[in-house]
Amino acid sequence: MRTQVAIIGAGPSGLLLGQLLHRAGIDAVIIERQSAERVLSRIRAGILEQTTVDTLHAAGVGERLQRESIVHDGINIVYDNQPHFIDVRALTGAVVTAYGQTEVTRDLMDARAGSGLPTHYEVEEVWLEGMTGSKAVAHFQQHGETRRMECDYIAGCDGFHGVSRRSIPEDRLREFGRAYPFGWIGVLADVPPASPHAVTYAHHARGFALCSMRSLTRSRYYVQCPSSDRVEDWSDARFWDELALRLDARTAGELITGPSIDKSIAPLRSYVAEPMRWGRLFLAGDAAHIVPPTGAKGLNLAVSDVRLLAEALIEHYRERSDAGIDSYSQRALRRVWKVERFSWWATLLLHTFPDTDDFGRRMQEAELDTLTQLESASRSFAEHYAGLAF
Ligand code: FAD
Ligand code: DHB
Repeated sequence: MRTQVAIIGAGPSGLLLGQLLHRAGIDAVIIERQSAERVLSRIRAGILEQTTVDTLHAAGVGERLQRESIVHDGINIVYDNQPHFIDVRALTGAVVTAYGQTEVTRDLMDARAGSGLPTHYEVEEVWLEGMTGSKAVAHFQQHGETRRMECDYIAGCDGFHGVSRRSIPEDRLREFGRAYPFGWIGVLADVPPASPHAVTYAHHARGFALCSMRSLTRSRYYVQCPSSDRVEDWSDARFWDELALRLDARTAGELITGPSIDKSIAPLRSYVAEPMRWGRLFLAGDAAHIVPPTGAKGLNLAVSDVRLLAEALIEHYRERSDAGIDSYSQRALRRVWKVERFSWWATLLLHTFPDTDDFGRRMQEAELDTLTQLESASRSFAEHYAGLAF
């Protein structure tokens, strides 16, 4: 097999890159470890920045998004039993959009299948070679057969546990990170959302809680839990009781509960690998960095990497200029670090840490007052939440 760009991973990063390249007339083949059904069964992000929505429209996959998504003008921050609305639209002129990662992925898969483009699912034993040579090669096994794909470039879009980042020699890669001493247990349920027009973030001595949604009839809720907890520790009843305890009385009173249709625990971590390019290999999305989910940035950051990478590859093939690919890592990382900072800060502000003492709690409360009462602080938050400019 031979292609121009071999894409490792059919998550949102890999599929979006494939779609943007296809529309520019560049050949790409995607290989994915899981089946398509398994990729679609992972419940993850749900809030899209305006630039993410614009990029999906530019990729030709905005039609269902336009029809089915729900626009949020702002967010609620709950603490001390009171909700505070941050009006993102009034402060920035921008909005965010509720539309699940699963739906984004499905739209991209459908577009790819509709164009007859090749995606190889359920591949195993992927290994990459030739990144610093005259051509790169992705080797893999599929249904027991060994296959070899030659290409000009490899896009490592294979998430945090993928093979791409690990193909960079240790002495060429710097890693930075934090593990947080808690996780989020998330529940998906077919009940109307508690706050259908704004995500609610709650800070409480018992721990953080979050009310989000996928549609007007499907809700997504999270509560902070110890890292050692397992899903079996959390019956639906325990989850709903704990969520209600962490919300303001009004939101808790209006909460409609029901059986969970998905329940999972996600660890929280911050992580960045530098650089995001090694020879013919480029990293994008979770393959290069992880943000804690506070602030809903993971998917949006993946999309902004992919946009930069697609532009750089298009410039290379169309204009025979390597300026974009040579500056990709540096340009992407400038943005990555700003978003890492926001997600880290929002995590420190809103969660209860095992070592949070009375002083630390008062500092969090004072910062929450500043955030909700000082317009310059609300505006800075809103600008980050709505999405930083490129
Ligand atoms: P991924 O979605 O991880 O896709 C990578 C793909 O590569 C996967 O399909 C994987 O199977 C495939 N792959 C891996 N290894 C190989 C290999 N060797 N060969 C071929 N293919 C391979 N963000 C938010 O904003 N809000 C959230 O609530 C939220 N919740 C999350 C919950 C969890 C459990 C996780 C893990 C992430 C969550 N995120 C959330 C982050 C967000 O979902 C990610 O930032 C986003 O999925 C990144 O997309 P990606 O395509 O870069 O990586
Ligand atoms: C969702 C996840 C987040 O991390 C967040 O900050 C907002 C919403 C969600 O899954 O809908």
